[in-house]
Amino acid sequence: MRILGIETSCDETAVCLIEAEGNLGADFTFRILGNGIASQAVAHADYGGVFPNLAKREHGRNLVPMLEIALRESGALNLRHEKGLTMSFSRLRKSLKNILAREPELFERLEPFLNEHARPDVDAIAVTVGPGLEPALWVGINFARALSLAWNLPIVAANHMEGHVVISMTEFLDSHNLSGRIDYGNEKRYIEGNIVKFEFPAVTLLISGGHTELILMKEWMQYEYLGRTRDDAAGEAFDKVARMLGLPYPGGPHISRLAEDSRQNNLPRAVTLPRPMLKEDTYDFSFSGLKTAVLRFTEQQQTLSEELKKQIAREFEDAVTEVLIAKTIRAVEEFGANAVVVGGGVSANKHIRAELHRQLSAVNQCIPTLQGVNPAGRECPPAHKRRALLVSSFSARKYESSLSYFSRSTSLVNCKLLLCPTEFSTDNAVMIALAGYFHALKKEFAKPDTLRASGDLLLA
Ligand code: KG4
Ligand code: ZN
Repeated sequence: MRILGIETSCDETAVCLIEAEGNLGADFTFRILGNGIASQAVAHADYGGVFPNLAKREHGRNLVPMLEIALRESGALNLRHEKGLTMSFSRLRKSLKNILAREPELFERLEPFLNEHARPDVDAIAVTVGPGLEPALWVGINFARALSLAWNLPIVAANHMEGHVVISMTEFLDSHNLSGRIDYGNEKRYIEGNIVKFEFPAVTLLISGGHTELILMKEWMQYEYLGRTRDDAAGEAFDKVARMLGLPYPGGPHISRLAEDSRQNNLPRAVTLPRPMLKEDTYDFSFSGLKTAVLRFTEQQQTLSEELKKQIAREFEDAVTEVLIAKTIRAVEEFGANAVVVGGGVSANKHIRAELHRQLSAVNQCIPTLQGVNPAGRECPPAHKRRALLVSSFSARKYESSLSYFSRSTSLVNCKLLLCPTEFSTDNAVMIALAGYFHALKKEFAKPDTLRASGDLLLA
């Protein structure tokens, strides 16, 4: 089945075409045939965050060029023989104008595109309907409705967070040929992948610009919220702290770079920041106090030297990492999870990836000691919760060496750590197409006219 994925929930305009077959947990495989993605980060930089109406306008401008890239890369961009305003096209034009009444710039670009190009070989459209910025989501939805009408295609209403979950479970088969960017070049090589084999239950940590959530999955596509942030999301905190340090938006990668510099140069600790809700008996998070603590500290300084910025970045990254991972591991132990799935833009963070790996290995190492306490002095979970946890130091080492690289589903024997390649951690259309595929398989299609943007859409 060929799915056209459309993502416009925030500041990335993305369209892709994938081909997928098989079912979850069985024989599923997919290929990315074409992938167009336009980041608006530069446009939003002056605002220090995403400005919804600017995002809406940029999506309107970028969707057709991204569609064109996705189809061209797929070899599915073909000219129409019968161009011009034929009877049927002029009728279609009228309906398109209606659907895109609020997106005039999109209509201006889509109408000539549809007039000139033939219907591509596609079976369904998957479009993000939430959560996200509603003005931005509507552009993608109306684009999907227009294409659905023009090409007579069913639509799947995709949940953005489910996209992050599903793509984090994937394994890319030719990862050694991926080098940071998807570059098809002249050689027509499609990126292929499948879903990592693992057993439920799984604990999922979703960390993005708008969300910080711990979720328990006992089955495919079934979600139980364990906890979520009570205020700022992890990515939001990274972005706001970056701004305080004079770093551009999005701030996560910049903080990460400074923090790494501080670690490599062994800079002393210049500030001690709180670890919010670390010890509290809840899976909820809170990052706004941490952000305020950084603000207070920076306000007390006469100048922020480059060295001090690095020290602050490191302490901040350490604080976020400790809280996120402590709660994730607590959930692994409580629910006897066989897998930890980590997704969302912040999961691209190198330090968080390295610490997840290290601390999950330590949990697994509880098992061989069988004395209730592992060599690191950590309390072991009770036996019934330990059944899944065994250690394989070989695969652990293998994981470590590939860590800065990409994904990996590395077996920490039974409790696997599932992360996707870093360029798929942040928003993209492939994750939407993948999530959409599993609903399309079950014929869970939406009626185009009843589609609505849902800024706060939940997974359960
Ligand atoms: O999932 P995503 O692309 O968009 C949302 O759905 O929100 O996540 C974007 C967030 C931004 O806050 C960005 O600063 C953060 O992910 N991010 C990072 C890193 N790369 C992106 N945060 C920390 N370290 C990174 N390397
Ligand atoms: Zn996202």
